[in-house]
Amino acid sequence: MINIAEIRKEYALQKFDTHHAHANPFEQFNNWFQEALNAELPEPTAMHLATVSPAGKPSGRIVLLKGVDTGFVFYTNYDSRKGKDLINNPFAAVTFFWAELERQVRIEGGIEKVKAEFSDEYFKSRPLESQYGAVASPQSQVVENRDFLERTYQEVLQKFDGQHPPRPENWGGFRLLPEVFEFWQGRKSRLHDRLRYKIAANDLWKIERLAP
Ligand SMILES: Cc1cc2nc3c(=O)[nH]c(=O)nc-3n(C[C@H](O)[C@H](O)[C@H](O)COP(=O)(O)O)c2cc1C
Repeated sequence: MINIAEIRKEYALQKFDTHHAHANPFEQFNNWFQEALNAELPEPTAMHLATVSPAGKPSGRIVLLKGVDTGFVFYTNYDSRKGKDLINNPFAAVTFFWAELERQVRIEGGIEKVKAEFSDEYFKSRPLESQYGAVASPQSQVVENRDFLERTYQEVLQKFDGQHPPRPENWGGFRLLPEVFEFWQGRKSRLHDRLRYKIAANDLWKIERLAP
Protein backbone atom coordinates (compact mmCIF):
# COMPACT_ATOMS: atom_id res chain seq x y z
CA MET A 1 0.00 0.00 0.00
CA ILE A 2 1.31 3.48 -0.89
CA ASN A 3 1.96 5.68 2.13
CA ILE A 4 0.03 8.73 1.00
CA ALA A 5 1.12 10.81 4.00
CA GLU A 6 4.74 10.50 2.81
CA ILE A 7 4.02 12.20 -0.52
CA ARG A 8 5.52 15.67 -0.21
CA LYS A 9 6.71 18.47 -2.42
CA GLU A 10 8.75 21.56 -1.59
CA TYR A 11 7.67 24.84 -3.17
CA ALA A 12 10.44 27.28 -3.95
CA LEU A 13 10.03 28.62 -7.46
CA GLN A 14 9.13 32.23 -6.79
CA LYS A 15 7.91 34.74 -4.27
CA PHE A 16 4.95 37.10 -4.34
CA ASP A 17 4.70 40.23 -2.23
CA THR A 18 2.99 43.60 -2.31
CA HIS A 19 5.85 45.06 -4.42
CA HIS A 20 5.11 42.49 -7.13
CA ALA A 21 1.34 42.71 -6.80
CA HIS A 22 -0.68 44.88 -9.19
CA ALA A 23 -3.06 47.28 -7.37
CA ASN A 24 -5.94 45.85 -9.40
CA PRO A 25 -6.65 42.12 -8.97
CA PHE A 26 -8.00 41.75 -12.53
CA GLU A 27 -4.62 42.99 -13.81
CA GLN A 28 -2.86 40.70 -11.36
CA PHE A 29 -4.94 37.77 -12.58
CA ASN A 30 -4.12 38.71 -16.15
CA ASN A 31 -0.37 38.73 -15.37
CA TRP A 32 -0.47 35.28 -13.76
CA PHE A 33 -2.78 33.92 -16.45
CA GLN A 34 -0.37 35.14 -19.14
CA GLU A 35 2.46 33.40 -17.30
CA ALA A 36 0.36 30.21 -17.16
CA LEU A 37 -0.10 30.46 -20.94
CA ASN A 38 3.60 31.17 -21.51
CA ALA A 39 4.46 28.11 -19.41
CA GLU A 40 2.21 26.04 -21.74
CA LEU A 41 0.33 24.46 -18.86
CA PRO A 42 -2.00 21.65 -19.99
CA GLU A 43 -5.31 23.27 -18.91
CA PRO A 44 -4.70 26.90 -17.88
CA THR A 45 -8.39 27.80 -18.17
CA ALA A 46 -9.63 24.93 -15.99
CA MET A 47 -11.06 26.15 -12.70
CA HIS A 48 -12.80 24.47 -9.83
CA LEU A 49 -16.26 25.94 -9.31
CA ALA A 50 -17.89 25.64 -5.90
CA THR A 51 -21.62 26.23 -5.54
CA VAL A 52 -24.01 25.87 -2.62
CA SER A 53 -27.56 24.57 -2.82
CA PRO A 54 -30.38 26.53 -1.16
CA ALA A 55 -30.22 23.87 1.60
CA GLY A 56 -26.61 24.92 2.26
CA LYS A 57 -24.95 21.87 0.70
CA PRO A 58 -21.75 22.64 -1.22
CA SER A 59 -20.56 20.87 -4.36
CA GLY A 60 -17.63 21.34 -6.71
CA ARG A 61 -16.57 20.56 -10.24
CA ILE A 62 -14.20 21.79 -12.96
CA VAL A 63 -15.41 24.22 -15.65
CA LEU A 64 -13.48 26.20 -18.26
CA LEU A 65 -12.99 29.96 -18.07
CA LYS A 66 -14.24 31.50 -21.33
CA GLY A 67 -13.60 35.17 -20.73
CA VAL A 68 -12.82 37.92 -18.24
CA ASP A 69 -14.63 41.26 -18.47
CA THR A 70 -16.40 42.72 -15.43
CA GLY A 71 -16.26 39.14 -14.13
CA PHE A 72 -15.24 35.57 -14.87
CA VAL A 73 -17.43 33.93 -17.52
CA PHE A 74 -18.09 30.21 -17.99
CA TYR A 75 -20.77 28.22 -19.82
CA THR A 76 -22.94 25.36 -18.74
CA ASN A 77 -26.41 23.88 -18.66
CA TYR A 78 -28.77 25.99 -16.52
CA ASP A 79 -30.70 22.86 -15.49
CA SER A 80 -27.57 21.05 -14.27
CA ARG A 81 -26.87 20.71 -10.58
CA LYS A 82 -24.55 23.73 -10.63
CA GLY A 83 -27.02 25.65 -12.79
CA LYS A 84 -29.83 25.14 -10.32
CA ASP A 85 -27.55 25.97 -7.39
CA LEU A 86 -26.43 29.22 -9.02
CA ILE A 87 -29.93 30.32 -10.00
CA ASN A 88 -31.29 29.65 -6.51
CA ASN A 89 -28.25 30.82 -4.57
CA PRO A 90 -26.28 33.22 -6.78
CA PHE A 91 -22.88 33.09 -5.10
CA ALA A 92 -19.86 31.02 -6.07
CA ALA A 93 -16.14 30.49 -5.63
CA VAL A 94 -13.69 29.47 -8.32
CA THR A 95 -10.15 28.18 -7.82
CA PHE A 96 -7.33 27.85 -10.32
CA PHE A 97 -4.41 25.55 -9.49
CA TRP A 98 -1.41 26.07 -11.73
CA ALA A 99 0.75 23.32 -10.26
CA GLU A 100 3.83 23.82 -12.42
CA LEU A 101 4.01 27.46 -11.27
CA GLU A 102 3.17 26.52 -7.65
CA ARG A 103 0.26 28.95 -7.76
CA GLN A 104 -3.36 29.01 -6.72
CA VAL A 105 -5.89 31.78 -7.38
CA ARG A 106 -9.20 31.90 -5.51
CA ILE A 107 -12.05 34.19 -6.51
CA GLU A 108 -15.39 34.62 -4.73
CA GLY A 109 -18.45 36.67 -5.48
CA GLY A 110 -21.98 36.99 -6.74
CA ILE A 111 -23.28 35.34 -9.89
CA GLU A 112 -25.28 36.70 -12.82
CA LYS A 113 -26.46 35.04 -16.03
CA VAL A 114 -24.77 36.49 -19.09
CA LYS A 115 -27.08 38.14 -21.64
CA ALA A 116 -28.77 35.75 -24.10
CA GLU A 117 -27.10 37.39 -27.13
CA PHE A 118 -23.70 36.91 -25.48
CA SER A 119 -24.41 33.20 -24.93
CA ASP A 120 -25.72 32.91 -28.52
CA GLU A 121 -22.50 34.32 -29.87
CA TYR A 122 -20.31 31.99 -27.84
CA PHE A 123 -22.52 28.96 -28.61
CA LYS A 124 -22.17 29.64 -32.34
CA SER A 125 -18.40 29.87 -32.04
CA ARG A 126 -18.09 26.34 -30.62
CA PRO A 127 -17.24 23.38 -32.85
CA LEU A 128 -20.41 21.92 -34.40
CA GLU A 129 -20.02 18.62 -32.51
CA SER A 130 -19.94 20.49 -29.19
CA GLN A 131 -23.11 22.37 -30.17
CA TYR A 132 -24.86 19.08 -30.97
CA GLY A 133 -23.53 17.61 -27.73
CA ALA A 134 -25.00 20.48 -25.70
CA VAL A 135 -28.36 20.03 -27.43
CA ALA A 136 -28.30 16.26 -26.86
CA SER A 137 -27.18 16.12 -23.24
CA PRO A 138 -29.60 16.65 -20.33
CA GLN A 139 -26.61 17.52 -18.14
CA SER A 140 -26.64 16.09 -14.59
CA GLN A 141 -29.80 14.03 -15.13
CA VAL A 142 -29.74 10.28 -14.60
CA VAL A 143 -29.76 8.47 -17.96
CA GLU A 144 -30.36 4.78 -18.49
CA ASN A 145 -27.12 3.97 -20.27
CA ARG A 146 -24.45 5.21 -22.70
CA ASP A 147 -26.63 4.06 -25.57
CA PHE A 148 -29.27 6.66 -24.68
CA LEU A 149 -26.67 9.42 -25.11
CA GLU A 150 -25.36 8.03 -28.42
CA ARG A 151 -28.89 7.67 -29.78
CA THR A 152 -29.93 11.18 -28.74
CA TYR A 153 -26.75 12.58 -30.29
CA GLN A 154 -27.47 10.75 -33.57
CA GLU A 155 -31.04 12.14 -33.59
CA VAL A 156 -29.69 15.67 -33.14
CA LEU A 157 -27.13 15.06 -35.92
CA GLN A 158 -29.85 13.95 -38.32
CA LYS A 159 -32.22 16.73 -37.35
CA PHE A 160 -29.71 19.52 -38.01
CA ASP A 161 -27.81 17.76 -40.80
CA GLY A 162 -24.64 19.86 -40.69
CA GLN A 163 -26.47 23.10 -39.81
CA HIS A 164 -25.99 25.13 -36.63
CA PRO A 165 -28.62 24.22 -34.04
CA PRO A 166 -30.14 27.12 -32.09
CA ARG A 167 -28.70 27.52 -28.60
CA PRO A 168 -30.84 25.54 -26.16
CA GLU A 169 -32.59 27.93 -23.78
CA ASN A 170 -31.20 25.99 -20.84
CA TRP A 171 -27.60 26.39 -21.99
CA GLY A 172 -25.60 29.57 -21.50
CA GLY A 173 -23.13 31.56 -19.51
CA PHE A 174 -22.75 32.69 -15.95
CA ARG A 175 -20.52 35.54 -14.79
CA LEU A 176 -18.84 35.51 -11.37
CA LEU A 177 -18.51 39.11 -10.15
CA PRO A 178 -15.51 39.09 -7.83
CA GLU A 179 -15.65 40.54 -4.32
CA VAL A 180 -12.53 38.75 -3.11
CA PHE A 181 -9.41 37.44 -4.87
CA GLU A 182 -6.58 35.52 -3.25
CA PHE A 183 -3.25 34.86 -4.93
CA TRP A 184 -1.15 32.04 -3.44
CA GLN A 185 2.48 31.38 -4.27
CA GLY A 186 4.14 28.30 -2.78
CA ARG A 187 7.27 29.05 -0.70
CA LYS A 188 9.90 27.21 1.29
CA SER A 189 9.05 25.62 4.66
CA ARG A 190 5.34 25.98 3.97
CA LEU A 191 5.66 29.76 4.53
CA HIS A 192 3.69 30.45 1.41
CA ASP A 193 2.79 33.93 0.15
CA ARG A 194 -0.90 34.76 0.23
CA LEU A 195 -2.27 38.12 -0.83
CA ARG A 196 -5.97 38.80 -0.56
CA TYR A 197 -7.76 41.60 -2.41
CA LYS A 198 -11.10 42.75 -1.06
CA ILE A 199 -13.34 45.22 -2.79
CA ALA A 200 -13.46 48.49 -0.78
CA ALA A 201 -15.06 51.89 -1.44
CA ASN A 202 -14.92 53.56 -4.88
CA ASP A 203 -13.95 50.35 -6.66
CA LEU A 204 -10.60 50.34 -4.91
CA TRP A 205 -9.17 47.08 -3.67
CA LYS A 206 -7.61 46.55 -0.26
CA ILE A 207 -4.64 44.17 -0.28
CA GLU A 208 -3.80 42.15 2.83
CA ARG A 209 -1.29 39.40 3.52
CA LEU A 210 -2.69 36.22 5.04
CA ALA A 211 -0.75 33.67 7.05
CA PRO A 212 -0.21 30.45 5.15
C1 LIG B 1 -11.30 19.79 -17.72
C2 LIG B 1 -12.81 19.86 -17.58
C3 LIG B 1 -13.50 20.93 -18.12
C4 LIG B 1 -14.88 21.03 -17.98
N1 LIG B 1 -15.53 22.13 -18.47
C5 LIG B 1 -16.86 22.26 -18.28
C6 LIG B 1 -17.53 23.46 -18.66
O1 LIG B 1 -16.93 24.45 -19.14
N2 LIG B 1 -18.88 23.53 -18.47
C7 LIG B 1 -19.58 22.50 -17.92
O2 LIG B 1 -20.80 22.61 -17.78
N3 LIG B 1 -18.97 21.37 -17.51
C8 LIG B 1 -17.62 21.23 -17.66
N4 LIG B 1 -16.99 20.10 -17.23
C9 LIG B 1 -17.80 19.02 -16.61
C10 LIG B 1 -18.10 19.39 -15.15
O3 LIG B 1 -16.94 19.19 -14.35
C11 LIG B 1 -19.28 18.58 -14.56
O4 LIG B 1 -19.05 17.19 -14.71
C12 LIG B 1 -20.60 18.92 -15.25
O5 LIG B 1 -20.70 20.29 -15.59
C13 LIG B 1 -21.79 18.55 -14.36
O6 LIG B 1 -21.67 19.22 -13.13
P1 LIG B 1 -22.92 19.43 -12.12
O7 LIG B 1 -23.70 18.13 -12.12
O8 LIG B 1 -22.30 19.73 -10.80
O9 LIG B 1 -23.72 20.56 -12.66
C14 LIG B 1 -15.60 19.99 -17.31
C15 LIG B 1 -14.90 18.93 -16.75
C16 LIG B 1 -13.53 18.88 -16.86
C17 LIG B 1 -12.78 17.74 -16.20
